[in-house]
Amino acid sequence: MDNLSENINETIKYINELEDFFDGKLGEVQKKAYADNIPAIPKETAKFLSVILSIKRPKNVLEIGTATGFSASLISRYLAEDGRITTIDRYEIMLNSAKKTFGFMGIEDKVTVLEGDAAEILPTLTGKYDFIFLDAAKGQYIYFLPYIEKLLDVGGILIADDIFQGGNISQSRYEIPRRQRTIHSRMRAFLWEICHSDVFETALIPIGDGIAFCHKVKEAKEE
Ligand SMILES: C[S@@+](CC[C@H](N)C(=O)[O-])C[C@H]1O[C@@H](n2cnc3c(N)ncnc32)[C@H](O)[C@@H]1O
Repeated sequence: MDNLSENINETIKYINELEDFFDGKLGEVQKKAYADNIPAIPKETAKFLSVILSIKRPKNVLEIGTATGFSASLISRYLAEDGRITTIDRYEIMLNSAKKTFGFMGIEDKVTVLEGDAAEILPTLTGKYDFIFLDAAKGQYIYFLPYIEKLLDVGGILIADDIFQGGNISQSRYEIPRRQRTIHSRMRAFLWEICHSDVFETALIPIGDGIAFCHKVKEAKEE
């Protein structure tokens, strides 16, 4: 084992100590999410997103998986002028909390909250998006992908979070508990698709619990 593999946890700890929380209200939302143990993107993923967003400056963002609104609040900081976010969650308690977050951040006019299962909402969406952040039930990514592919503009970016499933993704299905095998094989199917797609240039990046970073380079061929 090389030095980096041996020291990876220490290295991540070092990076997290080196990087500041966000400033202002966004930092307050971030610290609260971590303190309350709410599912939210970890610090290093948030930092990575902020860099991509500050380059991309998206105009029309779709988020799948709002939780209490930390990542949507982060995205709102980097929107283009007149930019907007549509965010989907199926869990009412989370969305009530997210609406409070958006009020606190003063971004209610930029955010459209859609309540319900993304599996039902995605087929009804007709707009085009230049940035999609996928951070919902990991076993559903493969089913969301055809809709995401259509909704994303050429030149747009898809980021999918938590693709390594706590490190299980590299293990064979027989090495992981039986109850996790379905989600494991669905995530592997999702990763295979995005890595072998003509539509996306994709990199899988070991940051947080792993992210897929996909650039849509062309439209899918009509069947
Ligand atoms: C990891 S949390 C999102 C964290 C958030 N993006 C952040 O960083 O602040 C995942 C959220 O996705 C929602 N979710 C999971 N599957 C969903 C689905 N099929 N449709 C809509 N929401 C879903 C859950 O209710 C949960 O609030």
